[in-house]
Amino acid sequence: MQITKTISETREALATSGSHKKIGFVPTMGALHKGHLSLVEKCHLESDFTVVSIYLNPAQFGPQEDLNRYPRNLERDIDLLRSYDADLIFTPDDVQMYPEGYCTWVKVEGLSDILCGASRPGHFRGVATIVLKLIHIINPNLMFMGMKDYQQIIVLEKMIQDLNLETKIVRCPIIRESDGLAISSRNAYLGPEERQRATCLINALKTAQKMVNDGCLDSKILISEAENIIRESDGKIDYIKIVDSSTLQELAEVKSNAKMLLAVYIGNTRLIDNIELLS
Ligand code: PAF
Repeated sequence: MQITKTISETREALATSGSHKKIGFVPTMGALHKGHLSLVEKCHLESDFTVVSIYLNPAQFGPQEDLNRYPRNLERDIDLLRSYDADLIFTPDDVQMYPEGYCTWVKVEGLSDILCGASRPGHFRGVATIVLKLIHIINPNLMFMGMKDYQQIIVLEKMIQDLNLETKIVRCPIIRESDGLAISSRNAYLGPEERQRATCLINALKTAQKMVNDGCLDSKILISEAENIIRESDGKIDYIKIVDSSTLQELAEVKSNAKMLLAVYIGNTRLIDNIELLS
């Protein structure tokens, strides 16, 4: 396993060992958990050369957000990736990615301003910019991403389409704890009592899914029931929406391809999750 810190080392490593191979890429911000590792496993199965980036991208955090307390443990991450047989780990620093005078940004308009983008202005501009830079450096055939960050996938797929990139995103299932909580690096912020309350997200989503299976298609009724479940657990709702899963446009009535997406604060921790309501 090779570890590179600079863009030129990374390009050289890929030219030497990765050429003529199907390159699979897992972008991460470190603090690796079972969700990331499932992406690495899938990447390994579906490509010939597995590249993982570890970069805590400051550009996707707002000034009041959790960049400073975001969990970091590079040595542990590297050990884990070694045991998962990654071929190359790219761990750049801020000077590599945003040298002094850096001023070029990518914004996927519209899709970046709704849902999580409405409460986190600039977030998806930061995500699109760093992912485009990483794609240019690594040139992967496949990029593996988890569906917990569903809007992120839709934004990046649109960027890939609009900019005629050849990388294909492989959508990977949400990995959950045994009680259903979607695995996220931010779960580490939850105290024991908050951790218990955090199951309200999956309970709300599953309840809505069951109501749809039982014949209720009215988004207002479904959202109101989900809101009750979150409030019973003292969660603070950022948003709960029912959307078309390709366009992210809100649906007044559930139809095929509909998803419920939500963002909820448990204490000070903002968690997101989603579920398919009708396939
Ligand atoms: O999903 C994440 O961890 C980040 O948004 C990503 C894709 C690594 C970009 O920094």
